[in-house]
Amino acid sequence: MLKPVIMAGGNGSRLWPMSRKLFPKQFLKISSDFTMIQETVKRLDGLVAFEPVTICNEEHRFIVAEQLREIDKLGQIILEPVGRNTAPAIALAALSEIQQGNDPVLLVLAADHVIGDIDKFQSVVNTGLEQAEAGKLVTFGIVPTHAETGYGYIRKGKVVSGEMKGPDSTLTNGLESLDAEALESLDAYSVGSFVEKPDLPTAKEYLTSGEYLWNSGMFMFKASRYIEELGKFRPDILNACEASLKDTSSDMDFIRVDKKAFESCPDESVDYAVMEPICSAEDSDAAVVVPLDASWNDIGSFSAIWDISDKDSNGNVHQGDVLNHDSKNNLVIAENKLVATVGLENTVIVQTKDAVLVANKDKVQDVKKIVQQINSKG
Ligand code: GDD
Ligand code: MG
Repeated sequence: MLKPVIMAGGNGSRLWPMSRKLFPKQFLKISSDFTMIQETVKRLDGLVAFEPVTICNEEHRFIVAEQLREIDKLGQIILEPVGRNTAPAIALAALSEIQQGNDPVLLVLAADHVIGDIDKFQSVVNTGLEQAEAGKLVTFGIVPTHAETGYGYIRKGKVVSGEMKGPDSTLTNGLESLDAEALESLDAYSVGSFVEKPDLPTAKEYLTSGEYLWNSGMFMFKASRYIEELGKFRPDILNACEASLKDTSSDMDFIRVDKKAFESCPDESVDYAVMEPICSAEDSDAAVVVPLDASWNDIGSFSAIWDISDKDSNGNVHQGDVLNHDSKNNLVIAENKLVATVGLENTVIVQTKDAVLVANKDKVQDVKKIVQQINSKG
């Protein structure tokens, strides 16, 4: 059984002022007529027979329910009273499945990625499924294009599978197997090392070595395997999540976790809590990486939006009412005013009803620092 788990509790602060606390980027239409969370679930059509479990902040429950109902994929929604990052979020999904008497392979997806080639994505998930069913923690690796410091880096180890099943076999997600020939080229590798968000010199070193892939932020493992590894490395997180699910109340499709118990949970991402330590432990065969070459983009910042958008002959991307003269390689988003640029290069301008951002396109990772300043002002 393959169960999609949609992590939708981030606040998208690097896309401020477009993405807001009350309406973060995963609920916006950024790359198509569907919102990012809808795209995430729709991408599974034909691959997964089951409805997703979504984990999000309590304050977004109606947005999530409405957007998933619109595409007829409501599933269960686990509500976090506060954000504690992805290690606890995944633990809640895994424990909740186990509580219901299931031990599915969880396909853990971020709600804010763009993937251009859906067929390839689905083939790669099927490769990962075999590995996850065999007890591996599966990551998906992207060939890096620049020394990005906002991602995790995975060193590709030895090939652990290249031999796919024969044409008569059926993969076990309840749907038909893919064409065996298409699968033959899909390999899984052991993980030599996993380094989350290295500094710039290290990222540059990894890029030039050619040995590293970016961690896509999507994972696959059996619910019980994740819980086992989390218990090994971060029993404090596991205990807090178990306590949070002891007296859950559910109304409609929402599962509410205990506020006090979850507030006491440490804030940590799955990358730091489980993936880094598992890959430095001796038994590093526990994790595998399946390369994913499917036009993946984590719409993490305005430069990523510029990357994936159609540009004019001067490399400018415009949304809304925008005029420019002698300007190159800018991203300008105008919500309700005319925005004009003259002699401007490599700049991001985002105008919304109540805020304007002007930023150097090479520095847009730091937009979150502005959000921190806003939050600290209260
Ligand atoms: N439910 C829930 N609760 N979801 C969360 C929380 C939380 O507290 N925090 C983040 N998420 C969701 C986000 O909405 C997003 O969909 C996903 O989890 C990943 O979180 P990000 O905050 O976007 O992580 P990141 O981009 O810094 O890093 C991760 O993704 C990179 C690729 O995009 C890591 O896995 C990196 O290693 C990876 O390279
Ligand atoms: Mg992200």
